[in-house]
Formats: sequence, C-alpha cells, structure tokens
Amino acid sequence: MTGTTPSIPTGNRNDEIQIYDLHKSFGDLEVLKGITTTVHRGEVVCVIGPSGSGKSTLLRCVNLLEQPTQGRVFILNEEITDPDADIDRLRTTMGMVFQSFNLFPHLTALENCTIAQIRVLKKNPDEARAFAQANLDKVGLGDRGGSYPAQMSGGQQQRVAIARALSMDPEMMLFDEPTSALDPELVGDVLSVMRDLAQGGMTMMVVTHEMAFAREVADRVIFMDGGVIVEEGPPAEVIGKPTHERTRTFLKRVLDPTHVNAGDEDEAYAQRHAADSTPTA
Ligand SMILES: Nc1ncnc2c1ncn2[C@@H]1O[C@H](COP(=O)(O)OP(=O)(O)OP(=O)(O)O)[C@@H](O)[C@H]1O
Ligand SMILES: [Mg+2]
Repeated sequence: MTGTTPSIPTGNRNDEIQIYDLHKSFGDLEVLKGITTTVHRGEVVCVIGPSGSGKSTLLRCVNLLEQPTQGRVFILNEEITDPDADIDRLRTTMGMVFQSFNLFPHLTALENCTIAQIRVLKKNPDEARAFAQANLDKVGLGDRGGSYPAQMSGGQQQRVAIARALSMDPEMMLFDEPTSALDPELVGDVLSVMRDLAQGGMTMMVVTHEMAFAREVADRVIFMDGGVIVEEGPPAEVIGKPTHERTRTFLKRVLDPTHVNAGDEDEAYAQRHAADSTPTA
C-alpha cells in the first residue's frame, strides 16, 4: 500500500467485512497474493474471474474455512483471524451458500431451516419453525416445507439452502457460484431470490459467472486473476468499460458462449482462424 495505511479495524459500523493484505498458499502454490478490500453494510459485491484465480479461496478465508497464511480479516470490526477470536460466533453472522447445496438429505426443507436455530442459536422450536417458514415463503417455497431434498429440483434445493442460511438471521451472505450447478432453466428463480435479498438491503459477497446478474444487482464488481484484484468498481465500469486487458480477455470469453477456447489457447485459436479464412488455390 502507498500513502496512508488504513487503520484496521476502522470501527465504522458500516464496514462489515474488512480484508487486509490477505495471502493464502497451499504448499508452494500461492493462491491469494495480497487482497485488500472492504465490503460495506448493504453492499452487493460480485467477484468474477477465471477458474483458479482464487475466488472461492477468498470467500473461504473470509469465514475462516481456510486459514490465511498472512493478512487480517475483520467481520463487523472484530478480527476473525485473531487466534483468540470466537470463530463460531462470528460465523453465525455470515450465511454461506455453496454451489452444491449441502442440505441434510434426511431432513425436510422446513427441518433443514430449523435445526441449527434450535441447536446453535438455542431458539425454542416453535419460534424456530415460524422463522423457517417465513424464510421458505421468502424464497417462494412456502408450500414445500414437508419435502425432502431428493423430492426437489436443484433450483428448489438451492432456494432451501438460501432459506436455511437466512434462518440464522445473518448480517451478511456469502455466495460461491450458487447457480453454476443448475440446469439453465432453474437459474432464474435462484437469481431472483438473490435479487430480492439485495433489494432488501442484505450485505452480499457473490462469486458468480452470471454477468447479467452482476451488471444489474452488484454495487461493485471485483475482477480477480492470479490471486490479485486486477480491477474493481461499479459494474458499468468493470464489465461495461474494463480498463485492463486481462479483464477484457476474460469478459470476451464469458460473454461469447460460442467461444470455447481458454487462456493461452486463444492466440493459437485466432491464428488458426486467420489461416482458415485465407483463400487456398
Ligand atoms: N485445499 C486446497 N489444496 C490445494 N490447492 C487448492 C486447495 N483449494 C484450492 N486450491 C488451488 O487454489 C487455486 C485457486 O482455487 P479456487 O478454488 O480459489 O479458484 P476459483 O477462482 O474459485 O476457481 P473456480 O472458478 O474454478 O471455482 C487453484 O489452483 C486450486 O487448485
Ligand atoms: Mg471457485
């Protein structure tokens, strides 16, 4: 960092997630190479970038599912990377939704949304069930509380997973590619639940490949590549008018569905196609 170093933690109650010089290595592989950013109350931040750029690792370091090798993370101005931190308590402030829904298969949708309220938050069962039902209503599955995960579509299961996370009454929600395991026709329902959450003022950090969603819903887009933030800003800038070549190359790839080549292959691909169009005798 140049200039004045920001004071960490800021003490500003609107700073919900503060990430400061975060590094993470797996053995010799350095996956995060110094990430610094703050997510503010009510802000929707979409994280985009190529496969392997460290997006999931970043999200997993935020709630300490991965232990950073260096750097500090503050949740609501409390340091979760402090060795003495009450990690379980801090984690209850963050709802997490993964690509694979991870519902309990032997429990109904309603029970999936109830169990942790009773076991972790020690709520009384009636109160827990009422809140679970309200959250199922919110994701459009109010009438499916009695269904087991295997009786529901992937999109419905993912909406139950969102309702389950909301049932812990979190301050913020972290999503890791919540729609990428879904059949295309099921993606819209999940995104519309997420859009409603965002409009309701939920703080959200969303790793996604859904550029239309990021463009419409994000307050800020972070483009990561090779373990660093290459650029970040409003979607109209980062997606609409990216300033870095790496961002442009990535966007061209994800926005052109007929383009199946990736990375270094692109150059060779372009050359082959230039050759294709050369008239032969
Ligand atoms: N537990 C782990 N052990 C070893 N290497 C890991 C581990 N988790 C992630 N990695 C490596 O770290 C790099 C970044 O992985 P990460 O999952 O964060 O990428 P990503 O941006 O989420 O990619 P994708 O878009 O494919 O989900 C990859 O090279 C991956 O193989
Ligand atoms: Mg990932």
